[in-house]
Amino acid sequence: MEARRLAYLQALDIQAWELRQPDGLTEQSAVEQPHTRIPPVEPIEAAVPPLDFSVDADGLGQYDWKQLQGAVRQCMACDLHKSRQQTVFGVGDEHAEWMIIGEAPGAQEDKLGEPFVGPAGKLLDQMLRAMGLERQTVYITNIIKCRPPGNRDPRPQESAACHAYLLRQIELLKPKLILAVGRVAAHHLLDSNETVGRLRGRPMRWGEASIPLLVTYHPAYLLHNPADKGKVWQDLQTAMTMMQENTQDN
Ligand code: URA
Repeated sequence: MEARRLAYLQALDIQAWELRQPDGLTEQSAVEQPHTRIPPVEPIEAAVPPLDFSVDADGLGQYDWKQLQGAVRQCMACDLHKSRQQTVFGVGDEHAEWMIIGEAPGAQEDKLGEPFVGPAGKLLDQMLRAMGLERQTVYITNIIKCRPPGNRDPRPQESAACHAYLLRQIELLKPKLILAVGRVAAHHLLDSNETVGRLRGRPMRWGEASIPLLVTYHPAYLLHNPADKGKVWQDLQTAMTMMQENTQDN
């Protein structure tokens, strides 16, 4: 298992540290276990106020997963329905502890109906595996359920139109931790305009349920900025610590 995780760290181009051996020892160097180097987590920040939308106001409060997915499939609340091939609801374990929230479907996701299946998705899979997680054991979704044409940023009215779906997904899942990947997810969930560089890696809590939340860079950003993979690995370690703490607390 550990060997596999180290392989994924290498795939992420993250250097596994080698411990120097005491004087004179010539044995092959030991590789430090990544999870033994988890940095201490700073106190969790004050809860982010919940956004001004209520699930019940949109009539979704009683929906189960299937009904919610059906509602999304038929959604025409914004113009994105005109250009989509299909909606992209979310994928994974409906009882998962980890919830990964990205931005919006791209071309591949629009074609296949599943989030994070393109090149950024492959890197997300590697990020998950570096934490010892598989795609099917977490729950992955996006702020927006339909592809913005040309992969442009979602417009505020599009994020607002989709918001109740996301809220109901969070309510149904009750994740132990939300990992918000990238600027669009971070800004929407935190109602903030701070750069991801400033928001990332800071343990936060989200909404009335005070769900632990961590922001990190989007894997698509990492594809263009591989030098920041080390920062993402730091964030993922912080997320693992937050999860451990949340699991101990409950
Ligand atoms: N980028 C995202 O944010 N989500 C996807 O599903 C694919 C790419």
